[in-house]
Amino acid sequence: MKDFKGKVAFITGGASGAGLGQAKVFSEAGCKVVIADIRQDHLDEAMEYFKAKKADVHAIKLDLTDRKAYAAAADEVERIYGGPPQLLINTAGVNTFGPAEASTFEDFDWVIGVCLGGVINGMVTFVPRMIKAGKGGHIATTSSMGGFMASSGCTPYSAAKAAVNNLMECYHDALKPYGIGVTVLCPANIRSNIAEAVYTRPEHLKNTGYNVNDKTIDFLRSIHAQGMDPIELANHLKKGIENDQLYVIPYPGSQQMIENQFKKILDYSTPEGTKRQDELARQRAEEREKSSDPYRTTDSGFGKAREDITWVTESSRINPKK
Ligand code: NAI
Repeated sequence: MKDFKGKVAFITGGASGAGLGQAKVFSEAGCKVVIADIRQDHLDEAMEYFKAKKADVHAIKLDLTDRKAYAAAADEVERIYGGPPQLLINTAGVNTFGPAEASTFEDFDWVIGVCLGGVINGMVTFVPRMIKAGKGGHIATTSSMGGFMASSGCTPYSAAKAAVNNLMECYHDALKPYGIGVTVLCPANIRSNIAEAVYTRPEHLKNTGYNVNDKTIDFLRSIHAQGMDPIELANHLKKGIENDQLYVIPYPGSQQMIENQFKKILDYSTPEGTKRQDELARQRAEEREKSSDPYRTTDSGFGKAREDITWVTESSRINPKK
């Protein structure tokens, strides 16, 4: 897609962080933008900005894990704009941190429900409508560098984002004949409000195995304050869509990280490679031990198990060095 003028863009998570940056950039490029988000306060704030700009932006309060509500949102878009969007951007996401072995079913259900289930709901809701409209278009999904690299400190998120990458590659191949392009945006750190994701965690999925409190939220805020500006990120995405790229990975160093990851996978499929990778992992652990990595030195308790989880302790470890 090269010309955005007059196109309808539907952006999930469009009221904050990366999604709001995308709403601003694509609105500026001439799109009629619909922002869908679970947080009314984020929607209100965003709409104040767009109203002041006299931009054609419409807000819909939506929990994208609710399929009926998602279909109703799609109907609302068609009613207002006379058809489905030509540009769908799946950006809403949540995250929470703690050891894999402390994870509860609810940690998985919440994070995978939003980060993977929400994207699936977007695709199943909109793809048939977009094909039937016969105008082609483009679908972009905000995944993460975490989709390429397993992180045992946010396992549900890592699993969801890896699945999102494959999901979008499948649609990339399938939707080509209909003139619908697909792009996966894989950011590293973004200056956003994702530290507050826990505020949107539904009551029935509240049972977490992780240590999450005001201190850990503040700590996470300080990390994301150093992230890429959402407008800059959205401009990278826009360029990627214009060039019909499958992946947009706009962070320095990311190429090397991905190369290392694929090398690791290939190595771990042979005995010699396994030895090589185990040695590399040992060296990394040693370096981490020495470094002042904020994830290790924080006294906020960030990334730890919930206090009453009794099996995640030093003394439970058979091999404490690993
Ligand atoms: P953010 O928290 O600023 O924005 C996400 C928006 O999604 C929020 O407004 C939130 O209310 C909304 N949302 C959450 N659950 C929802 C639901 N069930 N239904 C509808 N809306 C919901 O966070 P950010 O960082 O802008 O996140 C956007 C995307 O970027 C996510 O998919 C995230 O995984 C991804 N990402 C973020 C990174 C970061 O460093 N912040 C790094 C890599 C990827």
